[in-house]
Amino acid sequence: MSYFKINTLEEYFKHYKKSIREPKKFWNKIASENFVWYQEWEKVIDFNMSQADIKWFVNAKVNITKNCIDRHLAKNGTRTAIIFEPKDPNESALHISYNELSERVNKMANVLQSQGIQKGDRVCIYLPMIPELAVAVLACARIGAIHSVVFAGFSDSAVAARINDSECKMVITSDGGYRGNKTIDLKGIIDEALKKCPSVTKVLVAKRTNTQITMQEGRDLWLQPLLDKASDNNVAEIMDAEDPLFILYTSGSTGKPKGMVHTTAGYMVYTAYTFKNVFNYQDNDVFWCTADIGWITGHSYILYGPLLNGATTVLFEGIPSYPTFSRFWETIEKHRVTHFYTAPTAIRALAKEKLEYVQKYPLASLKVIGSVGEPINEEAWHWYNDHVGGKRCPVVDTWWQTETGGILISPIAFVTPTKPTYASLPLPGIQPVLMDDKRNEIEDNQITGSLCIKFPWPGIARTIWGDHQRYKETYFSAFPGKYFTGDGALRDEVGYYRITGRVDDVVIVSGHNLGTAPIEDAINEHPAVAESAIVGFPHDIKGNALYGFVILKETGEYRDRDNLSKEINQYISDHIGPIAKLDKIQFVSGLPKTRSGKIMRRILRKIAEGDFSNFGDTTTLLNPEIVDEIKNEKL
Ligand code: PRX
Repeated sequence: MSYFKINTLEEYFKHYKKSIREPKKFWNKIASENFVWYQEWEKVIDFNMSQADIKWFVNAKVNITKNCIDRHLAKNGTRTAIIFEPKDPNESALHISYNELSERVNKMANVLQSQGIQKGDRVCIYLPMIPELAVAVLACARIGAIHSVVFAGFSDSAVAARINDSECKMVITSDGGYRGNKTIDLKGIIDEALKKCPSVTKVLVAKRTNTQITMQEGRDLWLQPLLDKASDNNVAEIMDAEDPLFILYTSGSTGKPKGMVHTTAGYMVYTAYTFKNVFNYQDNDVFWCTADIGWITGHSYILYGPLLNGATTVLFEGIPSYPTFSRFWETIEKHRVTHFYTAPTAIRALAKEKLEYVQKYPLASLKVIGSVGEPINEEAWHWYNDHVGGKRCPVVDTWWQTETGGILISPIAFVTPTKPTYASLPLPGIQPVLMDDKRNEIEDNQITGSLCIKFPWPGIARTIWGDHQRYKETYFSAFPGKYFTGDGALRDEVGYYRITGRVDDVVIVSGHNLGTAPIEDAINEHPAVAESAIVGFPHDIKGNALYGFVILKETGEYRDRDNLSKEINQYISDHIGPIAKLDKIQFVSGLPKTRSGKIMRRILRKIAEGDFSNFGDTTTLLNPEIVDEIKNEKL
């Protein structure tokens, strides 16, 4: 029997049991029956959780692009691989077949090689959502270069920090990008960033907005003329199963971004498997994930997962509100989209607008709708289910992380009964456990605990680029022998999981994972600021928003607080990007600290939420009086 596809709930339980009792046999079968390999593995898995050493498909040889592209060509070369929907609905959409994708990727791979990029080199990709972004990612994978896609909304300092951390040799960018009807000067941002990045010797520039830009002689090259001259034949590099495929940065508890490293074979097997099952993708379906490829959701479920399954995937350059709040629904009709995968923040924003925007469209092509990135509240779940899914389409609330590579807990469309706000059951191979504060496993249901996973799965990140110790400490030390997710969760009476949110210093704002530490670092650079503490507080649309408590160096001297707040937000924009801006700033004379000097964020969170009822134990505070002062000033 095949384990690749789950068709019934009974099958789910059967596969799940098999995957737990005999994980090697389970993944062995999936990997050997559904992919093309140059050489199969000697061992399915080799791991030591306490050392955070994990290897899958040991010594296998493979190239992921052979599996994403080449193997589909003989039978399905003319099938559409990517539908590019431009930001302006009046600009024609582009249908790129698997044959054309193959040509484009091979040409790009040859260009990269001719510009000196070799296996193992890091390439930073800073592009808007245009076909060149997908092609550049796949071209890196083809030649064994490690792609590091940086979301094209990050500021020059944030890009520079990411380029320097992994010492990228090349940057691929464009003359500009669109956000609604605004143009963003991406090349200008890269020029500024590269003043601080000695490792970059080449910049390839795609043309999109025709913005006037400067090209630095000897470093910058227009991409298109190089592609025009390149051959469309390229022999894929033979990669080891554990060779890094990409680095993707995520926030952490220190100012330094964490470069999560995903390797080749395990990531390939896991994204292909989860895409097929969670969404129940069938031939000729059209899958649309609205994320940006700059985030893990885009890597795994715009590109790799769909292409590995020979699917048709939509690449959308626009935003949900341009030109009107109907854009998502209009686009679903236009391309007869069958699978729609978006974030709760987008759902909440659209649910706030007039119902006509969505009701104008029958959306009859839809079969499955998904949610990702943050907890989906009950109201948003129902709005999505009623008005988008027409109560016919299963809502798959998929829980996972940059670190996990693919979805870990989620309903399987048409198999798992859904329950609003519950990500429901673990996928085969995933062994979640809830831990209490004393590090004991919680056996009972209806209790919230820290969510850990006690056995590796193929898609787990293998390390943090250049810092394995940090990887071990962040994910494998809090609960020894287990992977700690940083999330809290509740398990109901039938074993369904509901993710309750972060239990660490990460705040999810509009689905973006923001560490509070890098934001504090940015604010503290303002000459007027002595110290700051950032916490999250609930927000109707964004899920969470950021609240900053700021101590000024010399109070009184900084006259205009409104102006100062604007300057502080500008610092954040410059250092990280506009997504990390604070919604509220309160200037305070001190912060509640423990005797060991740690800021007691729990109290600040309560103040930010406006919940003054119970601050818990404040006896360990060095300065308990500050709590009342901050609270009263907020009132
Ligand atoms: O807190 C969880 C939340 O997003 C975090 C991971 O963020 P990131 O690495 O940026 O990846 C986002 C896309 C996979 C998680 O630790 N999160 C993600 N999906 C859900 C979620 N929270 C609740 N429900 C979800 N479905």
